[in-house]
Parts: sequence; C-alpha cells; structure tokens
Amino acid sequence: MEVKWKAAALLFALWCCCDAQRITSVSPRIGSVNGATRLTIQGDGFAQERQFQLNPVDDMFGNRVTLVSNTLSVPCDVERDSTHRNQIMCYTRPMPYDYYEIHVSVDGVPDNSMCRYSSLCIFTTVWYRTPTIESLSPVSGPPGTLVTVYGRIFTDVYGSNTDLSSNGINARFLRSYMGGMPCDLLKPNSDERIMGGTLLTVQGRFFDETDQPARVLVGGNLTNCFCIPHFYFLCEGGRGLKMEVWNNSRPSSLSNIWSYNKNTTGYWSQWIDSMPYVFPREMDYFTTRFTGFFVPPATGNYTIYLNCDDRCDLYLSNSSRPENKVKVAYQPYYVIDYTQLASQKSQVLALEKDKPYYMEILQQEYGGAATINLGLFQGESSYTEDQTDDAVNEVQDIGADYDVFDEEQVVTFDMWPANVAGVKEVQNVTVSSSCSDALCSSAFFTPIAVSASAAEVETALNGLWSIKPDTVMVTKQQSSEGSHFIVTFNSDRGDFEPLHFEVFGSDTNITVAEVTKGRGNMKTFTLLWGGIPTKPIPFNASKSEVQSALEDLMKAECPGEILSFEGTDVKYFKDFENDNSFLLFSIHQFNIANEGTPVDHSGFCGRWSLKNAEILFKDSYTTESGDTYGPVSLDKHPMVKSIIYVFIVNGIV
Ligand SMILES: *[C@@H]1O[C@H](CO)[C@@H](O)[C@H](O)[C@H]1NC(C)=O
Ligand SMILES: *[C@@H]1O[C@H](CO)[C@@H](O)[C@H](O)[C@H]1NC(C)=O
Ligand SMILES: *[C@@H]1O[C@H](CO)[C@@H](O)[C@H](O)[C@H]1NC(C)=O
Ligand SMILES: *[C@@H]1O[C@H](CO)[C@@H](O)[C@H](O)[C@H]1NC(C)=O
Ligand SMILES: *[C@@H]1O[C@H](CO)[C@@H](O)[C@H](O)[C@H]1NC(C)=O
Ligand SMILES: *[C@@H]1O[C@H](CO)[C@@H](O)[C@H](O)[C@H]1NC(C)=O
Ligand SMILES: *[C@@H]1O[C@H](CO)[C@@H](O)[C@H](O)[C@H]1NC(C)=O
Ligand SMILES: *[C@@H]1O[C@H](CO)[C@@H](O)[C@H](O)[C@H]1NC(C)=O
Repeated sequence: MEVKWKAAALLFALWCCCDAQRITSVSPRIGSVNGATRLTIQGDGFAQERQFQLNPVDDMFGNRVTLVSNTLSVPCDVERDSTHRNQIMCYTRPMPYDYYEIHVSVDGVPDNSMCRYSSLCIFTTVWYRTPTIESLSPVSGPPGTLVTVYGRIFTDVYGSNTDLSSNGINARFLRSYMGGMPCDLLKPNSDERIMGGTLLTVQGRFFDETDQPARVLVGGNLTNCFCIPHFYFLCEGGRGLKMEVWNNSRPSSLSNIWSYNKNTTGYWSQWIDSMPYVFPREMDYFTTRFTGFFVPPATGNYTIYLNCDDRCDLYLSNSSRPENKVKVAYQPYYVIDYTQLASQKSQVLALEKDKPYYMEILQQEYGGAATINLGLFQGESSYTEDQTDDAVNEVQDIGADYDVFDEEQVVTFDMWPANVAGVKEVQNVTVSSSCSDALCSSAFFTPIAVSASAAEVETALNGLWSIKPDTVMVTKQQSSEGSHFIVTFNSDRGDFEPLHFEVFGSDTNITVAEVTKGRGNMKTFTLLWGGIPTKPIPFNASKSEVQSALEDLMKAECPGEILSFEGTDVKYFKDFENDNSFLLFSIHQFNIANEGTPVDHSGFCGRWSLKNAEILFKDSYTTESGDTYGPVSLDKHPMVKSIIYVFIVNGIV
C-alpha cells in the first residue's frame, strides 16, 4: 500500500515539473554554420529575464540555452530583452554542420524533457542557410574602387530598417568592412548610397580569429597565404602584368613568340592585375606574352604552378634582370588544372621578401576557351587545413634508430691471498619476554616462539636463503635477563650482517650482538645482485660454476617445508610448473571456472599458480602414470587439510 502511494507521489512530481516548463515551438529549425541565427523558443515556465537580479554575474540565473550535438555543446546566447516567461530568444554561435538538440535550463535547473516530442527541439545547421562569399570582382584596385561581391547573400536590407527583404526574409546587413575599413553599400547600378544603414557584416568560411579579428583584404596585402590563386605584380612602377597579344598567330614553337613585336600583325596589349585571366570566348588562334615582376610577400620557399588553355611556358629570373630568366614550368598541351603534369610545377624556389623577380609567360591558344592561371605554394604558413582548403598540413616522418648492448661486467681478482685462516662469525641473540608461552613469537624467517629451543632456532635459521647452503649452530643460555641464543655460522664467508628480527607482541625485547666478527678464509666469494647474495663461489671457480651461481638468483625455489614428491607422505602434488600448456588448453583439468585459471608469473615458489580455484582436488584427477587418484583417505593422509591451508596462506592457490 505504502509503495503504491510513493509511486503516485513520484508521478505527480514529474507531472508537475513538466507542466511548469515546456517548449511548444522553436523557430527557425535550420540555420547558418557561422552562427548569428536568431532562435525563438516559445513555451511556458521560462525565467523572467528582466526581473530584479541580486547577483548579475550569477551564471545559473535566468534562462540558458545550449545546443548539443553528438560531439559538441555550444551555448546559444540569450537575448534578455526579448525573453520572458513564454519566450526565449537567443543567437547561435558558429557550429559545424550537424543536428543539435536544444537544451534549456531555467535558473540553473537543467531540464532535458521540456519538448512535447523530441524532434521539435532539433536545430540543424545547413549550407543553404549559411551566407558565403564566392568571389569578388575586381580583386584589386585603388581606394574607391567599386567592388561587386558574389555569393549566397540573403537580404538586400541594410541597417536598422526593419522592412522585409525583397525575397521576403526578415534579415538585414548590420556591418560591412573591407580591409578593416567601413565599406559603403550601393544600390545596384547607381551611385546612391544606402542610407539609414550603419554597418554591414561580411560572413564567410574558415575565418581565423585566434590571433586577431578576421579581416577581409581586398586590394590589401595578402601574406602567409598558401596557394593564393590571385597574384599581385609590380611592373614599371605599376601593378599587374603587361599582356601582349597577337591575333591570328600560329607558331609551331612557343619561343617563336620572342620574334614577334608591336609591328607584327594582330598585335594589341593590355594590363591585367589578377589571375586567373579568362579571354573572351570568341578569341581563337592567338599567342600572348605576359611580362612583369613577382614581388614575394614574404621570404620563403615557393613553388609556382602554371595552368593555361592551351599551352604555355613560365620563365622566372633570379633578379629583376630579364636576361637571367629560366624556364621554371611549362604545360605542353591542354589539361584541366595545374595539378595534372609534373612540368606544371616549378622546383622549390627560395625567394626573398619584397625583391622583384622578372617573370614572363608565353601562351598559345588554338580553339575554344582561353585562360591563364598561376598558383603559388608557400612552404611556411600559419594556416591549417581546417581553416582553408588551400592549406596543406605538414607531415613529418620521425624515424628513430637505436643500438642495444648487453651489459658486460668484468670481475677481476688480483693478488688473491692464499692460506688465510678463517674465523667463524658468532652472534648473541638475547630474547627477553614477559610471556613464556608459545603464543608470543618473533620472526627470523618463520615465526619462532620466544620459548623456542636451540634446535628450533637452528632449524629456522638454516632455512634462510641468505645462509644456505651454509649452516649455523645454535646453543641456548638462560639468565635473569632472558634467553641467549649463541649462533655460530659454519661458513667460509666470514662476516655476516647481524640477524634481523621482527616482534609480534608488545612485551618482548630482542637484541642481537656480534660476539666474534667472522673473517673469510678467502676460499669463496659471493656476488650481490640487487642486494641478494649468490651462494658462495670458490675463488678458482670455473665459468659454468659462476654462471650457475648467478642463474640461481633468478630461480624460484620452494621452501623445504613444502614436500614436492608424491609418495607415502604426499598423496597428491601439483605445482602447475611443467604442464602449463596442458593447464591452459586441457578440457579435463584447471580450465573450468571452479577449477581455477592457470596464471603465469605469479607463483609463490614457481612461475605458475592457479587463480580462483574452488576445487583443488577431485578423485577423478589422473596421476602422471595415467591412473586416477581415486578417493583419498583422511585417516591415512591426515595432513591434507593443513597442506592445503599452507598453500593458501602462501598464495600458491
Ligand atoms: C601593403 O604593403 C605596402 C608595402 O609593403 C605598404 O606600404 C602598405 O601600407 C601595405 N598596405 C596594407 C593595406 O597593409
Ligand atoms: C616598327 O615599325 C616602325 C616603322 O616602320 C619602326 O620605326 C620600328 O622600329 C619598328 N619597331 C620594331 C620593334 O621593329
Ligand atoms: C584581336 O581579336 C579580338 C577578338 O576577335 C578583336 O576584338 C581585336 O580587335 C583584334 N585585335 C587586332 C589588333 O586584330
Ligand atoms: C627553404 O628550404 C631550405 C631547404 O629545405 C631550408 O633550409 C630553408 O630554411 C627554407 N627557407 C625558409 C624561409 O623556410
Ligand atoms: C642569376 O642567374 C644568372 C644566370 O643564370 C647567374 O649568372 C647569376 O649568378 C645568378 N645570380 C644569382 C644572384 O644567383
Ligand atoms: C650474551 O649476552 C648476554 C647479555 O647481553 C650475556 O649475559 C651473555 O654472556 C652473552 N653470551 C655470550 C656467549 O657472549
Ligand atoms: C623491554 O625494554 C623496555 C625498555 O628498554 C623495558 O621497559 C621492558 O621492561 C623490557 N621488557 C622485557 C620483557 O624485558
Ligand atoms: C680450486 O682449487 C682447489 C684447491 O685449492 C682444487 O681442489 C680445485 O680443483 C680447484 N678448482 C678449479 C675449478 O680449478
């Protein structure tokens, strides 16, 4: 009953919230990738933007609109003056072509379920709602030049005039700039300025405003540009190239053009100041010669591309002197653009900024259309492929070579003394403890009870890897201060570090004192690797003895307490070391969930171990000889449980 009541309350709360804020319409649903599309969101329950606000810089206050695609989240800047309880007006920012969900949050409370149906709240950026400039004509000229801008332009209304555009769209130009200077808009085919308007916005693609506001340079200086299709030339103090044309000329070789002059039939000339140059369609069978200077806008490595209809040669001088010109590119027959033939592309030319280089183009036209075009590729630019299709990102291939050398160390024994008398190390371990029972223990290797006998301590110490294969002899004395274990090291090595100890239990004191400092008899030596000593190596050891002593350092060995042979004492032994592939692939054993997964490199005293095993032994397991083990009698093998226990605590299973 109570559960039902809660569910009802929850539903009620949801319903309340939906009722409070909702979006009923969004307009327009498509817009420009360049932003500045004004979105009107109609609905209910929005914040009253113009109400009194205590903290004007509070980010959470009021209505916030976010346009969210699969990869981006872009704010839509809310226009407070036109926003109230039933309407939000916001301006989009530049956003790539995509679908964007409209998310509205009111006073910091996001609500993604405001739309009556989800497709209502989708805004899409499309090319056909994106204003663009396709071309300018002319692309250069002195101040005061009348420039015609071609492109996808949506309105012929300027300034604050609110009349609809002649195409019925309610949009208008706000600002117009060229080269950072305001630019007056004219009525077509008249000198009449558009009055009432103040500003005009020129919008386009790939404007980079990272370093400075985007500028439209017309007749200005273009620098740092890749592959600029427009060339700027200086000639005899002027700007552009001198174009000389000979109508009705059909030389067999382009170099014949050099024999033509002003007196040759069909001659006429003209200045051109931009590329590409397109000849009137009706002109056929003529030759041209372009002469002028190329003044690089920046010092750098340039590649020049040549393209014409039908064939042409490009000559460039290393200075302003025409006599030093060399052919740097040519196109022997018609091709569609300047990427078709290797000869259309010059070598990389290292050119200096502001230095005039004499250039000359010879061109011949047969029938059809006639054009000439130059492309310029500059190796250094701040532009990237994302900003303009004309940029090519640099690709660097980094190769790294290295040599691997195995470490080599040489151990040399000079003047090895003979007949040195050794002295055995003796240490006095004093243990005093207020508790005498076996529960109080200390540890050298495995825990030793404080009340241990000399033989117990001796066995424990002889199990230490740092002492093996040498041994110790332990005697015990008792005094009022406690137990004293006198440890004598039976070793040629001589000196040993004082024994380390740990105490489990508070009221036990242990001191270790060196009674006799050992001295080696120089019959053996040990090598340390990572702080671990090898077993003692005879001073005159052979190569293989040293090698095996060092290899022993990397071997895994099990403590002696772990009996490793099946027999009368051990009914079942498996260390997982020798049959790894069998472990991994066998369908019989150790590869199903409750029998565990064999794991490499994580053994306690070997390489392999078994992980997450529930079952350690089944009577159906087979022995090495192929028989099944059968049931194990716990009367005969009472240690089964404790062996398993030892394995578990040691982490072998
Ligand atoms: C273009 O370059 C010339 C010479 O370098 C300079 O005098 C002129 O001011 C530049 N014009 C612009 C618009 O930057
Ligand atoms: C062109 O003809 C005129 C008159 O015949 C002559 O004076 C002039 O030198 C000629 N020019 C050239 C470049 O041959
Ligand atoms: C060259 O041909 C063009 C186009 O046919 C024509 O307009 C022009 O007058 C001709 N010029 C001469 C010098 O023949
Ligand atoms: C031009 O290329 C050469 C050779 O690759 C290079 O040494 C030089 O720095 C380049 N110059 C510029 C201005 O990038
Ligand atoms: C320019 O080219 C001419 C002819 O190829 C050559 O003699 C001259 O040394 C060159 N000058 C420079 C500055 O490279
Ligand atoms: C061991 O040390 C204790 C106390 O420090 C001392 O009484 C005892 O004589 C020492 N035993 C030997 C053999 O040095
Ligand atoms: C251990 O040493 C501390 C201080 O040295 C002493 O107070 C304590 O009584 C000693 N404990 C035993 C069991 O000797
Ligand atoms: C090392 O010297 C001992 C005698 O000092 C000798 O018995 C042994 O064979 C020698 N070993 C080698 C490998 O030369």
